[in-house]
Amino acid sequence: MLLYLHIPFCDSKCFYCSFCSYTDKNILKQAYSEAILKQFEQEIKRFDIGEKSISSFFVGGGTPSTFSPLLLSPFIKKITPYLAQNAEITTEANPNSATFDWLFGMKELGFNRVSFGVQSFDDKKLKFLGRAHNAKQAFEAIENARKVGFENISIDLIYNTKLDNKKLLLKDITTAAALPINHLSAYSLTIEKNTKFYKKPNVQKESLYLAKYAIKALLENGFCQYEISNFSRGYECFHNKRYWQQDDYIGIGCGAVGFYKNRRFYPSCDLEKYIKDPLLKEIENLSEKDLLLEKTFLSLRSNIGLELMNIPLHVMEKIDILSREKKGFIENGRFFNSNFFLADEIALFLNS
Ligand SMILES: C[S@@+](CC[C@H](N)C(=O)[O-])C[C@H]1O[C@@H](n2cnc3c(N)ncnc32)[C@H](O)[C@@H]1O
Ligand code: SF4
Repeated sequence: MLLYLHIPFCDSKCFYCSFCSYTDKNILKQAYSEAILKQFEQEIKRFDIGEKSISSFFVGGGTPSTFSPLLLSPFIKKITPYLAQNAEITTEANPNSATFDWLFGMKELGFNRVSFGVQSFDDKKLKFLGRAHNAKQAFEAIENARKVGFENISIDLIYNTKLDNKKLLLKDITTAAALPINHLSAYSLTIEKNTKFYKKPNVQKESLYLAKYAIKALLENGFCQYEISNFSRGYECFHNKRYWQQDDYIGIGCGAVGFYKNRRFYPSCDLEKYIKDPLLKEIENLSEKDLLLEKTFLSLRSNIGLELMNIPLHVMEKIDILSREKKGFIENGRFFNSNFFLADEIALFLNS
């Protein structure tokens, strides 16, 4: 069982971001810290959570580093009996708000992994993306994370923006490689509704050539690709991998989706509504067909591969065709995709 907690507060809204977050509702942080407790208490029953059964806890956002360890502490106390020994406990953080004290406080609470939204080390690109930090702050935050004792540090980068070219990407990647990080996520910029970029033409440079160049540069700099956007340098994120394997996950907080026994729970992203009734959710029942489609997408985008046990015969016949055409291969009862960029196409072919 996985646990995700959403912190819907940010210092400012980045131009590309459509995630559930608010920049003008800081006054509700205390009430939010009480609402998440209330929701978790109820979810213990709904998800039938046993002691030590949560193998990974991930705090994302929004911006968790805008939420003080003091406000988070009651929630941590509440979930501690349910956390497995050696559970992976990750927090996302933004370089401008992840101060030494905040990182220290999170380490004290038991966090053993931190993922920084760096996006780039180029100040012009950071400004273009509407980020609230500069490259110097990113270096300082990573250094402070090391100082307080974090060994598992990850960063996020964004590429395929209008400003990207081979030189800029190579600089971002070699700069990242020189830092004490053991994981990196590189996302191709997507243009989402209700963002500043949505109304601005030509902010994105959708280039497979640049994407392939970035991946080559990452591999040459010691990273291994284990999913379309995720790279490890000695550490693959446990939470990600279990999520792609369709493990059950408890979603706590405003806008945090949950999944249990073929049902998905969608809470509202309205902060006031959430605080008033943290259990209010829309429920979607997923059919076997929905689940297989999702499983195919998730497993072919990553090195998890598609488990072939219980795969219908007509899908198996297509897998044989793909194997013959060298678009993938079968090993230990799983089908692996040779090119993550073709994952969606292959998944659609298998499910057509
Ligand atoms: C939702 S954010 C939360 C982390 C943190 N608030 C931050 O911004 O650093 C997680 C990551 O998703 C990525 N992301 C969000 N929106 C994106 C978009 N439209 N295109 C590409 N990547 C995006 C960014 O790399 C970001 O670091
Ligand atoms: S990218 Fe991160 S900091 Fe920026 S608005 Fe989205 S959640 Fe907030």
